[in-house]
Amino acid sequence: MTKQNNLLKMALLMALGLQLAACGGSEPNAMTEPEPVSPTATATYTEPHRPQFHHSPPIGWTNDPNGMVYFDGEYHLFYQHYPDSTVWGPMHWGHAVSKDLVHWENLPIALFPDSLGYIFSGSAVVDTKNSTGFGKNGQPPLVAMFTLHDMKREKDGTNSHESQGIAYSNDRGRTWTMYEGNPVMPNPGGVKDIRDPKLIWHEATKQWVVTLAVGDHIEFWAAPDLKKWTKLSEFGKTYGGHGGVWECPDLFPMTVAGTSETKWVLIVNINPGGPNGGSVGQYFVGDFDGKTYTLDPSFAKQVPLGTGAWMDWGKDNYAAVTWSDAPDGRRLLIGWMSNWEYANKVPTGIWRNAMTLVRSMSLAKNAKGYYLVAEPVQEQQALRTMFVGLEKMELTAPVDLTAKLGAPTTLSEMELEFELPKDAAGSVGVELSNAKGETYRIGYDAKAKQFFSDRTKSGDSSFSEKFAPKASTAPRFADGNTVKMHLFFDVASAELFADGGSTVMTEIFFPTEDFTQAKLFAEGGKATLTGGKVHQLKGIWE
Ligand code: FRU
Repeated sequence: MTKQNNLLKMALLMALGLQLAACGGSEPNAMTEPEPVSPTATATYTEPHRPQFHHSPPIGWTNDPNGMVYFDGEYHLFYQHYPDSTVWGPMHWGHAVSKDLVHWENLPIALFPDSLGYIFSGSAVVDTKNSTGFGKNGQPPLVAMFTLHDMKREKDGTNSHESQGIAYSNDRGRTWTMYEGNPVMPNPGGVKDIRDPKLIWHEATKQWVVTLAVGDHIEFWAAPDLKKWTKLSEFGKTYGGHGGVWECPDLFPMTVAGTSETKWVLIVNINPGGPNGGSVGQYFVGDFDGKTYTLDPSFAKQVPLGTGAWMDWGKDNYAAVTWSDAPDGRRLLIGWMSNWEYANKVPTGIWRNAMTLVRSMSLAKNAKGYYLVAEPVQEQQALRTMFVGLEKMELTAPVDLTAKLGAPTTLSEMELEFELPKDAAGSVGVELSNAKGETYRIGYDAKAKQFFSDRTKSGDSSFSEKFAPKASTAPRFADGNTVKMHLFFDVASAELFADGGSTVMTEIFFPTEDFTQAKLFAEGGKATLTGGKVHQLKGIWE
């Protein structure tokens, strides 16, 4: 599966008359002209805006993470990928693996578009029981299920161009074979949006269950062998956020923290419709019996039609779903760190877009009801280098974190934790800046009881009016007396896990020169810092 193969494939596709890079009517993706990547372009991972501890493709375009599965000591990350251009186009599955969820090794492209269509988003599982018969030498196969999006058929106006296919691997995900019986789930006829299959093995009913996003609702289908699918039920037309098309779902059981109660979490990404504009992930909490998804009555009250429970309040965490077969019962999630409002236009060079940090998910319950909690995986701590403690202090003047860290040449890789009383008089936050006077601010506004991420003065935003019209905000969900901030900054992104992960914000920014200064600031009234820690982090590509 070399680049050469890829070019051959592309030539074949063009001969077949499939359109390059024009994402058609059913897709929200921007219609931006292809920007070819030179075949000689080589990634150094030192390019301007290149994340140093997030996954981004060596060259070309990426959107959704796909097919995440743990197998034989490796966490696989596949991703929507167009290697020949930095705008969306004929979708492949790019591939990377990690042993620790932090360091990534890029591998050759796993899946290429074929005569049935582009390879849209989907999932992968270990077929432990060899229900597919694809196993070899007593070893279980990895099986991926994805949407085949037929660009040629899209033009015939029958709205039947999306179907589902499978492929398998017998060599730890290194090479893949398309199943000759594809599509395993043809379009039911006239269903324009039916995509992003997320597979689980449902032990109680001993069958594979797939969750599909179907325009304005979710459909659950079942199969004994990942090939013969029967529809089980539908969910969601009358609940939750419906500001855009439903995409990239996920379904999994979770034990409610501190109890023995099990609830089924259903993730549904929607585009647009986010609380701060554009793409966003929402979730539901309920029960699933192998056939029907039933919202928990208490949760139903939180998500009447038109109101979503958001997984991440920033503008840049989309299509986030979880790993299959993660060890130790962990529920690990990763998202695409961008937004369809501007993803095709952000000012990067030979590659475009990156993934979020991997998050460890849990389900909690308080007086307000069930809620999802996202924390950075603890493996992330391996990147910590220098560490400086912050004493309890009145924030009467800005605290220069750069000086505290011994003025490193760049602050692009930093982790910061600090706490403040919830009744501070004004806003407390972190400001990153550079010599050009560009600034990015993120923090907590105690008066408004909300977190904010302000990239309005953070550098280049000329590529889209929707990128930084105003600061993004998120209400505080936790009710403790201390507001806890946990932040990661990586060249062109910030991730906030507030109050132990009960409010999350992820946003990207593009300073025209790297940020070199960081300070803690308080504004609009007296504020006390209860304490904190700053870590410099090392990159993963060195
Ligand atoms: C979400 C999405 C998916 C689709 C893929 C195409 O970002 O639109 O629904 O499968 O991207 O690249």
